[in-house]
Amino acid sequence: MELQTDQKPVILSGVTPSGILTMGHLAGALSNWVKLQDKFECYFMIADLHAITVRQNPAELRKRTLETAAMFIAAGIDPDKSTLFIQSHVTEHAQLTWVLNTFTGMGECSRMTQFKDKSTQHSENVNVGLFDYPVLMAADILLYQADLVPVGEDQKQHLELTRNLAQRFNHNYSDTFKVPEPYIPEVGARIMSLQDPEKKMSKSDPNQGSILFLTDSDEVIKNKIKRSVTDSGSEIKFADNKAGISNLLTLMHLATKRSIKDIESDFAGKGYGDFKMAVAEAMADYLRPIRQRYEELINNKQQLTEILVRGEENARKIAAKTLRKVYKKVGFVQF
Ligand code: TRP
Repeated sequence: MELQTDQKPVILSGVTPSGILTMGHLAGALSNWVKLQDKFECYFMIADLHAITVRQNPAELRKRTLETAAMFIAAGIDPDKSTLFIQSHVTEHAQLTWVLNTFTGMGECSRMTQFKDKSTQHSENVNVGLFDYPVLMAADILLYQADLVPVGEDQKQHLELTRNLAQRFNHNYSDTFKVPEPYIPEVGARIMSLQDPEKKMSKSDPNQGSILFLTDSDEVIKNKIKRSVTDSGSEIKFADNKAGISNLLTLMHLATKRSIKDIESDFAGKGYGDFKMAVAEAMADYLRPIRQRYEELINNKQQLTEILVRGEENARKIAAKTLRKVYKKVGFVQF
């Protein structure tokens, strides 16, 4: 084993480019990733190979992939600190998936909750790729010898499979893969729907008024917040039975960095109307620079391309090294 004592722990995470990113992504994932960049060696990936397990419109997928990358950078992922790349650009992901497939039981994949859910949702297209989705995810993680993987609740089972595959392979041959751990951020703010604050804000919600998209204009942001659903009380307080006001307090906290307690006292004795107005202004101010940076990038494809090519090169160096080891261990001829 090589000594890696002077190296920072490696983090890898990915996002499937299936829609415009929302305030939910920013608060729950992206903002945390931005903070990890100094302490860890970070790899952030746009998972386009995963995206096609559900039928995609090609032009739309291309557009979304670049938009997602641009939004990552706009939100603070710094390409000089972290490696930002597109999954399909690093062919090793598909190659390692093939090898890992031969170590994965049919039963293991059939038991994945997400597979069961998605096969019901997309019953017209239950393809082998959808079945294999978690193995591809394992390849993503294991190629970079990731120590930690920040994932949401819904991806924990996939990470567990990744750990099993790593251990199985290591046991069968010899130490090859780092066995990754899930990374649970200290505070991942959960942003709720503006129209139904008992539900998580979701980009696939048919009611657009419930979602703050990171591309929304000042006007749209303000209107959505002003029209957000709140309870019938009058106090500005964070509480279980005040889901709407609590959600607005969380947004205000994210936008202003003031503590919830401080915000509550700022608005003691004031009404919902005043509070909503203030949250609307604060959110618009908070998202404006992110959106402006995003627009700059999306309108300057050359800069974005350069960043992604650099990311691909960095990623490939590590991925190729791992794949070479794997190919050697399984007995492929290498010259
Ligand atoms: N499947 C993940 C999701 O839907 C995205 C993803 C793909 C990912 N590859 C990954 C996340 C590797 C973490 C690590 O959220």
